[in-house]
Amino acid sequence: MTSLNASCLSSSALLAPPALYFHDVSYNHENKHLLGPCSFTLDGIGPTLVMGPNGAGKSLLLRLAHGLLSPTQGQISWSGSDGCPRQAMVFQQPVLLRRSAIANLIHAQAVNGVRRSERMRRAMEALERFGLTACAKVPARVLSGGQQQRLTLARAWLLSPQVLFLDEPTSALDPAAIKAVEAAVLEFHRQGTRIVMTTHDIHQARRLAGDVLFFSGGNLCEHTSADTFFNQPVSSKAQAFVAGELVE
Ligand SMILES: Nc1ncnc2c1ncn2[C@@H]1O[C@H](COP(=O)(O)OP(=O)(O)OP(=O)(O)O)[C@@H](O)[C@H]1O
Ligand SMILES: [Mg+2]
Repeated sequence: MTSLNASCLSSSALLAPPALYFHDVSYNHENKHLLGPCSFTLDGIGPTLVMGPNGAGKSLLLRLAHGLLSPTQGQISWSGSDGCPRQAMVFQQPVLLRRSAIANLIHAQAVNGVRRSERMRRAMEALERFGLTACAKVPARVLSGGQQQRLTLARAWLLSPQVLFLDEPTSALDPAAIKAVEAAVLEFHRQGTRIVMTTHDIHQARRLAGDVLFFSGGNLCEHTSADTFFNQPVSSKAQAFVAGELVE
């Protein structure tokens, strides 16, 4: 599923991706402490890969950054005067409307104020870019998992996000589909979109990451360049993780 943070739609594209700031951010749910406090800045070119074991807080982090959750304490902010940048999120399980692939893309544009006369042309372009032209009229929910995930990325593409969050977008896909999704993610990156993505696949992280946020037990253990993370991780948890040990 791709969800657009609706409050951010009016901002125009920036040349450089906006920086994201977490200032002492904590998140509690029903008196249970789940995340933080953590502080970090994403102002490099990325992509930023968020890693850590199950329950580490990776999805919470993305939901907080995307504005789907509000921090219990601390502040989340963005660079630039526009406040919140235009941003989209892709989830592990694609959630698509019960209509054709192209109708999904046309609907997303309608919701986001694209002129009616533009929608079909842009939708066809997006299908072509993501290798889905032959699937245009196929019901979206009949597509394979990999095709559905590419369709969610095509939908995100049509919204020209300045920031794209991806929460384990390839965990249910085969190698060919993973390759296609990774190529799409890198295409967003090349176009200047800030990428923040979770994965459990350390090989995928090595292929994609510019920097790594490593979480364990709701705490940020390490934020370093990919080179440092994979070759000389600083924290003991990250050292164990990179060494292939089973970190909790
Ligand atoms: N809505 C919620 N209500 C209560 N607890 C939650 C909620 N969402 C997440 N949690 C808890 O917060 C912790 C972090 O969850 P989160 O989903 O962020 O982990 P994760 O790192 O994404 O794990 P995974 O690798 O399994 O996806 C977990 O202990 C989880 O049970
Ligand atoms: Mg998760």
